[in-house]
Amino acid sequence: MTRSMDKIVALCKRRGFIFQNSEIYGGQNGFWDYGPLGTELKRNVRDVWYHDMVSAHNELLQPAGAPATFQMVGLESALIMHPQVWKCSGHYDLFHDMMVDCTETRKRYRVDHVKGHWVKCNGKTVKLNKASSEADASAAEEADRVFVTTTEANAIEHVKEKALKLFELRAKDAERLQIEEQVLGLAAISAADRGKIFAPDASRAGTLTDPREFNLMMKTILGALGTQEDAAFLRPETAQGIFVNFKNVCDSTRVKLPFGICQVGKSFRNEITPRNFTFRSREFEQMEIEFFCHPSQSREWYTYWRDRRYNWYLNLGIAKDRIILRDHHQDELAHYSVGTADIEYAFPFLDAGEYGELEGIAHRGDFDLRSHMEGKLTKNAAGELEVEKLADGTPKYRGSGKDLSYFDDQTRERFIPHVIEPSAGADRGTLAFLCEAYHEDHQPDEKGEMQERVVMKFHPRLAPVKAAVFPLIKKEGMPEKAAEIYGELKAAGLSVNYDQQAAIGRRYRRQDEIGTPFCITVDGDTATDKCVTIRDRDSLVQERIPVDRIVDEVLSRLKA
Ligand code: GAP
Repeated sequence: MTRSMDKIVALCKRRGFIFQNSEIYGGQNGFWDYGPLGTELKRNVRDVWYHDMVSAHNELLQPAGAPATFQMVGLESALIMHPQVWKCSGHYDLFHDMMVDCTETRKRYRVDHVKGHWVKCNGKTVKLNKASSEADASAAEEADRVFVTTTEANAIEHVKEKALKLFELRAKDAERLQIEEQVLGLAAISAADRGKIFAPDASRAGTLTDPREFNLMMKTILGALGTQEDAAFLRPETAQGIFVNFKNVCDSTRVKLPFGICQVGKSFRNEITPRNFTFRSREFEQMEIEFFCHPSQSREWYTYWRDRRYNWYLNLGIAKDRIILRDHHQDELAHYSVGTADIEYAFPFLDAGEYGELEGIAHRGDFDLRSHMEGKLTKNAAGELEVEKLADGTPKYRGSGKDLSYFDDQTRERFIPHVIEPSAGADRGTLAFLCEAYHEDHQPDEKGEMQERVVMKFHPRLAPVKAAVFPLIKKEGMPEKAAEIYGELKAAGLSVNYDQQAAIGRRYRRQDEIGTPFCITVDGDTATDKCVTIRDRDSLVQERIPVDRIVDEVLSRLKA
């Protein structure tokens, strides 16, 4: 089975899962639109997350593995917040990527996305401006090696192809090329070597600028006058909306620690190089939990959420050999974090053994609540957090001055809670579920001839269409009966398709390709035996079920 990204992207467009945004005008890089099926799928991802984390959460019972019982509540904050929020959270100063520009191609790259390889020929360095088809050794001795960069996933093949052109060699000379194993980030290249860098699509060396910072927050202007003083930012994460409402939630709902506040919503980041389909977009949706607890229990809660969130993906059908829990190294941690683990998935656009982030689970300590109380925090020489000061000793960014501590009326203790943050991407999750669902197999058609079948094996909870109803033929009352069943399934709140066009085998294949778990066929016997056939997408088993039990049957199979 080949799970290629090209096939998945083509299916997404052909069947209406995901479209390029503004496609008729040539597209808008980093933005995507969800078609009718994609809308259902992504809505299911969000709904299942909210159901499992909030609606179905029973605060009277201690879930397996949890150190205690706890409450979970929802929140929906605005996309635009007071600019001071981003100053105190650290996003204004610190939320940036290092980027380089190519002065020849005018392309911009994130430094950590450009992979580089030192290339030599015949075991010796090659003089580029004298490169001959033989690239002979005498010419080689005078020159230096060059650094070829690429953003491609199959870097070695790409570098080989580029180096062949660079050294003006024939394809058969490829084996004489020596590509050093070492893969360096651009940041690791000395200033002296900068002039020898070939940017990914450049024709000559030395066209990359020095790395510089680029803030990822998207700016917008509020109000009619539109001056810089009216500048505001589209939120780059939903989390800050939760922190600034912490006191409101405590005061209005009388929740008791430990508890979680959950939010699903759009976030915006001016990504330098949006790519890999929806994986890195400029507008995307997050599903975030900020879990507030007593500092002395925060490590236990961190472990609990790390394991629980990992299992959530497994329970929704992600295969264990394609998903990992990876603990961050100390130098990878975000500015606020004392510990973070990522849940990562083996997306098909990555090389074998590589994984892309689906969700991060961060132990944020009291950084956020304290920053919004006192002003932007920074680490001092002793590694402790303190308010960042200007030369005159005043805070660089003032906090709200509001008391965001928590008073435990049982223990009579007042403290600033610690926070565990499981932060998932709804679009990344949807993409992982799409990739995981993609399967190809061969099944016999009506004439017994083997046909290739593409089948999206979505978990039934996520499948965009839960059932399809077909009349076997368009007469003898079959369409009327099928329409009746269709109406009953719809009335039960299910997303259902009705299809009476083409041979039954083709209708099955159409549903398989969009991942419909169950197909129900009204046939010539239905009028007499009052039964229909229900076919299972994965096992292909077909069973006769009484018509008056079909809604319950589908509902119970969806729950199984
Ligand atoms: N509040 C913490 C936070 O925002 P993050 O790791 O930057 O952490 C959390 O983002 C999740 O949001 C990621 O694991 C990913 O699933 C999703 N995400 C982040 N940037 C994204 C982008 N440019 N496109 C799509 N999803 C993104």
